[in-house]
Amino acid sequence: MHIDRLEKTWLWISSLMAVVMVAILTFNAIGENSHPPSNVETIDSSRLHLTEEFSEDNLGVKTNDDGSITVTMVGARYGFYPEVIEVPANTPITFRLASADVLHGVHVPFTNMATMVVPGYVSEVTTSFPKPGEYSFLCNEYCGLGHDQMWSRLVVVPKSGEGL
Ligand code: CUA
Repeated sequence: MHIDRLEKTWLWISSLMAVVMVAILTFNAIGENSHPPSNVETIDSSRLHLTEEFSEDNLGVKTNDDGSITVTMVGARYGFYPEVIEVPANTPITFRLASADVLHGVHVPFTNMATMVVPGYVSEVTTSFPKPGEYSFLCNEYCGLGHDQMWSRLVVVPKSGEGL
């Protein structure tokens, strides 16, 4: 089979690009321990209100003994609850989210907070926010007619003892 010389060159270049990209992914995954959020923890989405963790009274921000923060939230058409979350800057924060109905997603622009919220699973993301300010906590998976109104507010306040 005849392959044009120019085409052959590009075959090599594009194959090389794929190899380099897989190498970078592998390096980051192993060397830097970076990975997509994949907390395989199942939950019955239709009975969230009956669970201890995701019952209405238990939602919100909790400070753990070691100073880290756990934020427990439920996503449901069309909002994330509680609707306003206030957390300190520069503090490890673990979000635990569950959907009460369909697939949702969370994205906080200008931060690295992003995850899907899949019904039947608990999504867990640990991050911290270096910059105090007000952020939008947006749904980024189409979940119905009210999808573009599905958002909450995330308020990052300066850590006590730190000025603005
Ligand atoms: Cu929830 Cu889109």
